[in-house]
Amino acid sequence: MTRPSSRLAGFYQRPLAERVATLCDLAGGAHLSEASRTWLQRGGGLDLATADRMSENVVATAALPMGLALNLRVNGRDHLVAMAVEEPSVVAAASNAARLVRLGGGFVGDADPPVMTAQIQLDDVPDADAAPARLAAGAARVLAAGDAAIPRMVARGGGCREACARVLDAATGLVVVEVHVDVGDAMGANLVDSVAEAAAPVVQELLGGRIGLRILTNLSRRRRARASCEVPADALGGDALADGIVRASRFAELDAARAATHNKGVMNGIDAAAVALGQDWRAIEAGAHAWAAETGRYRPLATWTRTATGVRGAIELPLAVGTVGGGTRAPGARAALELCAVASARELAVVLASVGLASNLAALKALAGEGIQRGHMRLHRRRLDDGADGADDHADATGHPGGTP
Ligand code: MEV
Repeated sequence: MTRPSSRLAGFYQRPLAERVATLCDLAGGAHLSEASRTWLQRGGGLDLATADRMSENVVATAALPMGLALNLRVNGRDHLVAMAVEEPSVVAAASNAARLVRLGGGFVGDADPPVMTAQIQLDDVPDADAAPARLAAGAARVLAAGDAAIPRMVARGGGCREACARVLDAATGLVVVEVHVDVGDAMGANLVDSVAEAAAPVVQELLGGRIGLRILTNLSRRRRARASCEVPADALGGDALADGIVRASRFAELDAARAATHNKGVMNGIDAAAVALGQDWRAIEAGAHAWAAETGRYRPLATWTRTATGVRGAIELPLAVGTVGGGTRAPGARAALELCAVASARELAVVLASVGLASNLAALKALAGEGIQRGHMRLHRRRLDDGADGADDHADATGHPGGTP
């Protein structure tokens, strides 16, 4: 895989057509397929015939600007991250923060194996308290039934790995059986739903009761990604700003109302990249917020602590993302995946976690420094200049001017 540098100095100052030409020529052009190059040169988008095949009752396509987050280095490798988002500051904010993180060596991170979880609900299970032991005794049959439903994934090395039962309400015999499935480089929702439906009759034979829902959980606890970074205080603008970022993080740790906004800033980056990369961003959102509340209290997904020389940030969240199947087949998503230059769904998850951490750093740096409104008003003026209304548009307020040096 050809991997161009993500540090493209002055990129934002060039005219759009020149940016596309630069992008296509990077690393001798070897990082992009002919189809992706053509897609970029045509200005992106989705033709109506493809759109009509992708959804129902199609009458048009809705467009978003796609920008590139620059400067991202993760585990020593560079990634150009496409972001599709209407909010003008998101791409610049992530790029600027990634540039600061790069000064401290870039992001480091890892992701769990791509294991998703199917849930099978059973009601009226007799002797529910004994259900976990009965399921354990017959787990091999459950896994075999699940694997039979996804033979191609099994042939590629994935498949059902573990099955267990949890009693949710012994009085009414409500039991959930969970089947953990390695889905390889797919997001995996369809695979896991197939497993849930195929395994349910076997589960019922083992436990009795009535079959209820058979569906994946979007809280993919076993498929989490982590990233961390260190940024020197000098790069942030001094010790006062470094302290301010840590105090902002503490505020989010102690207050759910602040944590919601803090996490919105994290998801600004992750969602925008997920949309460009053809991922199921609703699933990512559902998983992220369920994880944020995992301890029983809603908490920040990313936190910051002081080091001797600056700050250290860390993020962890479930990230069910794929590099094959689903929305990744769309031409724009293929181009975005090629630019991102990831070898696997796991690597993509670490990149997305890093983008979330970068977006969070940009927001906290602005909030702890000049405040969010100054950059916001600059963008607001730009919108008015463009003839747009722009009123009450707090969504623009990541406090960053348009440039990505
Ligand atoms: C705005 O899109 C995102 C912020 O509100 C995030 C935050 O407050 O941390 C700036």
